[in-house]
Amino acid sequence: MAEILDGKQLARTIRTELKEKVAELKSSGITPGLALLLVGDNPASQVYVRSKAKACAEVGIFSIVEKRPAETTQEEVLELIARWNADPRIHGILVQLPLPAHIDEQAVLLAIDPRKDVDGFHPENMGRLVEGLPGFVPCTPAGIIEILRRYNISTVGKHAVVLGRSNIVGKPIANLLYQKSAYANATVTICHTATQDLAQYTRSADILIVAAGRPQLITGDYVREGVVVIDVGINRIEDPSAPKGYRLVGDVDFDSVAPKAAAITPVPGGVGPMTIAMLLTNTLRAATGEAFSVRQFD
Ligand code: GUN
Repeated sequence: MAEILDGKQLARTIRTELKEKVAELKSSGITPGLALLLVGDNPASQVYVRSKAKACAEVGIFSIVEKRPAETTQEEVLELIARWNADPRIHGILVQLPLPAHIDEQAVLLAIDPRKDVDGFHPENMGRLVEGLPGFVPCTPAGIIEILRRYNISTVGKHAVVLGRSNIVGKPIANLLYQKSAYANATVTICHTATQDLAQYTRSADILIVAAGRPQLITGDYVREGVVVIDVGINRIEDPSAPKGYRLVGDVDFDSVAPKAAAITPVPGGVGPMTIAMLLTNTLRAATGEAFSVRQFD
């Protein structure tokens, strides 16, 4: 049976480490500050923003949460960002996605000062990542590298197969994994919805990163013995026997994959909790100025 990569426990460890570092920075006169913007009433987004603000408070990071109605105009959003860009108390700015359809997401992300872009979604930070320059790494991909690193799972020379090509997960994790560094240096294959004979690729993976957004897509016949599986999916499926009538599953069918895997992240409790831990890490890196001077994974 596979080793369980416990993201929940790891995130707790990271938060404890951060608490100390934040206290140190505060004693030198800098309190890290994060501004969060939530537009509209998407229930999942509300939960995420609340969890992010709570996590900030826990480690001593100052946070501002602005909640705006769904009718808010793009101009109003851009004004708020301009204000935060100029505010020296604010080191990180996070606009929770998705935004309502009448707001141009790309225009909003472009308006964030790249030095405050703790989500790492600004094209400048994506460009920095591709070129191997210091910058902000998006939180979920950063969390994946951190899991591999802290569990001493070497990626060097391995075949890493990434399922999914989103800007938030697939593209950045693929770009991280081939970088010439001790925590990457893998041979990377990216698969997506148009990939033919998906199993041919997944079966040759030493490390399989699944961010496809399809519940339990990857079953035991898609993997080989000894694979390391990172499941980024979070899907609700109906389950009349569960107290809420549903339960959370990943993009990987845990029960059939785990017996073949060397290591696997569970859902929930795997990659999910690491995302917020890395947001806090990025906010600290923004406050110290380290984000643009030191690469995160070397
Ligand atoms: N929506 C889903 N994931 C994310 C994320 O990592 N950051 C933001 N800002 N919005 C999201």
